This record gives sequence, C-alpha cells and structure tokens, in this order.
Amino acid sequence: MTAAEKKQRYAELAKEIAAVLDGEDHLIARMATVSNILHHAFEHYFWTGFYLVDPKAPNQLVIGPYQGSLGCLRIAFGKGVCGTAAATRQTQIVDDVQAFAGHIACDARSQSEIVVPVITAAGNLIAVFDVDSDNKAQFDEIDRDGLERIIQASFA
Ligand code: SME
Repeated sequence: MTAAEKKQRYAELAKEIAAVLDGEDHLIARMATVSNILHHAFEHYFWTGFYLVDPKAPNQLVIGPYQGSLGCLRIAFGKGVCGTAAATRQTQIVDDVQAFAGHIACDARSQSEIVVPVITAAGNLIAVFDVDSDNKAQFDEIDRDGLERIIQASFA
C-alpha cells in the first residue's frame, strides 16, 4: 500500500466509523466498533484495541474492547508503550518494541506499535488506543494522523 493509498484509506474509514457510530452513545459499544473496523481494514494491524483508565485505580489501565490475541489485563501509567502514552498524553510510535525500555510483551510476536491517548472534550484521559504489528517499523505519521483524527472524532 502506498502512502497516498494509506492516507485515502484512513479518510474513508473515518467516514465509515462516523456513520456506524451515529446515534450510539455507549462508550464500550463505540470502542468495540472502532477496534473492529480498524483491525479488519489494514494488513499491518496485528492487535488493535483500547486500554481504559480504571476509575477505581486512577493510575492504572485495564483492558477494554480489542481484536487479536490475548492482551495483558492491566498496565500501570508510565509502564510500557501504553502506560507512557497515558502518562504523557502523547501519541507514541515505536519501530522496535524490543528496543523500548520497559515494553510489556503481551504477545511475543508484536514488533512495532502506535498508541494514541483518548481524551474527551472536557480534557479527561479516558483510555489509550493501541495498535501492534507483527513486523518492525509499521507505523508512521500517516497512521498517527489517521488514528488521531478517528479517535478524536469518536470520543472527544
Ligand atoms: N505492548 C504494549 C502492551 C499491550 S499489548 O501489546 C496488547 C505496551 O508495551 O504498552
């Protein structure tokens, strides 16, 4: 897939996701739909899903809706790529997870990943969206831009 094709794909997916979510306000239903549509849209997506900020344990993420192999159940803020995205509220792109200090290997096949924070219109971090690939260096600025737009449109 060329860069232009990937960009175009994200634009089409943004429209498709908005159409499917229209009228549904249940957070888990929305997250399940976003992870499902994106997971099946791209070859380079191996694990696709959400880790939720746990209201009962504010500095911890707990597994949410996802597609792919078994995910870890909990991740502390600041730990691994997901925990870093939660602590910094910044999208993380990691080309080689083995070279990322503190990476959490839920599935040893994961090689690269992108994690986008999910922040509401009121400015509250409610989750992170994590996509892993089983190949190295699979995520770039087009993925960042495409995913940040979809996450913002779906949850802000
Ligand atoms: N790789 C992640 C852990 C979550 S999973 O891969 C599903 C991380 O280091 O945050």
